[in-house]
Amino acid sequence: MGRFGFFVSIEGIEGSGKSTLLYGLKDYVESLGLDVVITREPGGTVFAEGIRDLILHRDEDIDPWTEVFLLIAARRENVVKVILPALRDGKVVISDRFTDSTLAYQGYGRGLPLKKLSLLNKIATSRVFPRLTFLIDLPVEKGLGRKKGRFDRIEKEKLEFHERVRQGYLTLARKAKKRIKVLDGTKDPETLLEEARNLLKKALLEKKKIRGNYED
Ligand code: TMP
Repeated sequence: MGRFGFFVSIEGIEGSGKSTLLYGLKDYVESLGLDVVITREPGGTVFAEGIRDLILHRDEDIDPWTEVFLLIAARRENVVKVILPALRDGKVVISDRFTDSTLAYQGYGRGLPLKKLSLLNKIATSRVFPRLTFLIDLPVEKGLGRKKGRFDRIEKEKLEFHERVRQGYLTLARKAKKRIKVLDGTKDPETLLEEARNLLKKALLEKKKIRGNYED
């Protein structure tokens, strides 16, 4: 694939089915003969996975801004070490969560100012943002109900918090209609994947990452 690659992110509340979609899309992109790199946030490098562990798996109350700075530090590592090099190599990058998560969770969820969070996102990413974002939307109770095992520090938040995050995501999607595609997470995983594959194919065609005449 020529020149700069193509960056996709997947967003949604807890238990929305992001990972299933991520692996389905990875297989799809590979079937098109394109190189794909998958990553996740917070995480993506050994160091950033360490930060993920600090954020999610310590039973400690941390200040909301401390949480932001940790997320932003992890994002910077993921962008510089994983995402940018892959895009420079012309690859397709698919990230399980990215900058919208910070706006939804720390902005709408925790009530921190979106403007400041956006500025930090810009610094962390050197303004490398996804071309296409899939937002898997579903009722909060349904998503949390799907979660198995112990809840992490953020999953343990009150239902109202998760509801604010969900509504926040939907507001972000309304503000960025072209980039953020909302998928109905109550549909079965195969249907979701099919819808996402079609949208991704269209976007790759538009960006001339693929030619129009291959078989699906
Ligand atoms: P998950 O990737 O398994 O869904 O878990 C990541 C958790 O981290 C999830 O609760 C959302 C949270 N998170 C934020 O609050 N802000 C962020 O910017 C990111 C990337 C994740």
